[in-house]
Amino acid sequence: MRVATAAFISGLLTVASAHFQLQYPPPRGVFVEDKEPTFCDGYATAVSNRTVFPTNGGIVSLHSEHVHWTLGGIIATVQNPTSFDNFSSGGQFQFVMPFFQTSGEGDFCFPVDFGAQNVTGVKNGANVTLQLIYDGGDGQLYQCADLTLSDSASVPQSVSCTNSTNAATTPFSTSVNPDPTSTSPSGTSSSTSTATSTTNAAPMNVAVGFSGLAGIVGAIVALL
Ligand SMILES: *[C@@H]1O[C@H](CO)[C@@H](O)[C@H](O)[C@H]1NC(C)=O
Ligand SMILES: *[C@@H]1O[C@H](CO)[C@@H](O)[C@H](O)[C@H]1NC(C)=O
Ligand SMILES: *[C@@H]1O[C@H](CO)[C@@H](O)[C@H](O)[C@H]1NC(C)=O
Ligand SMILES: *[C@@H]1O[C@H](CO)[C@@H](O)[C@H](O)[C@H]1NC(C)=O
Ligand SMILES: *[C@@H]1O[C@H](CO)[C@@H](O)[C@H](O)[C@H]1NC(C)=O
Repeated sequence: MRVATAAFISGLLTVASAHFQLQYPPPRGVFVEDKEPTFCDGYATAVSNRTVFPTNGGIVSLHSEHVHWTLGGIIATVQNPTSFDNFSSGGQFQFVMPFFQTSGEGDFCFPVDFGAQNVTGVKNGANVTLQLIYDGGDGQLYQCADLTLSDSASVPQSVSCTNSTNAATTPFSTSVNPDPTSTSPSGTSSSTSTATSTTNAAPMNVAVGFSGLAGIVGAIVALL
């Protein structure tokens, strides 16, 4: 791990319950903060009004409330994915946005090329669902966007695409395996409103490289 651990931890302590909001392509529904640690931010079913999205040469825009974070994107090629299983094939997640780490709070916008990732079924005309996996060090957060891929589509000019900082992105090499026990959102959230709670209901532990650090931070926060 090559992050400035002390700075990272103190940063996390002040924002341990921070989140992220997907802005483009539009998510399944309005952001639900309490559900973001669960599959598709708590939205169990695909929308019928899908965003027509470029097979190649798209963008993903989001707002980050964390200063240091890791982002990846997985894709489901079934019409109505209801579980993490539906985003995997042969025991491996289908990545269209390989994990990377960057820093900065605010708006970020990344070029994506889903068609270049060699995922079976990711092609012109396909109905797919993108699920973003975001980790600011205090647990994984998820948001989904239901898309119809189109070779002739382009991102509308009206979509804002800016970066709050010019921080570089660093690829994260990771192997991620779906948790076979993960299920669709069950609405079993029993979280209380304690400000220091870092527990979340993430059904899958994505090993993005600093899970050990996240564990340390969790332990520290629990002592407060
Ligand atoms: C894609 O989904 C829409 C509804 O969201 C549906 O009307 C259409 O038939 C689907 N297309 C394919 C190729 O499955
Ligand atoms: C789908 O419809 C909902 C409800 O009208 C709307 O809020 C949302 O923006 C629409 N999504 C897209 C991608 O058009
Ligand atoms: C989605 O995953 C569930 C298991 O979690 C499975 O039962 C279902 O068949 C999958 N859907 C498709 C379309 O593969
Ligand atoms: C996709 O397949 C092509 C041709 O085999 C290969 O050159 C490319 O590196 C692959 N891309 C990824 C992301 O695996
Ligand atoms: C934002 O930063 C990323 C990573 O450096 C870069 O790939 C992307 O093009 C930038 N976006 C804009 C709108 O400049």
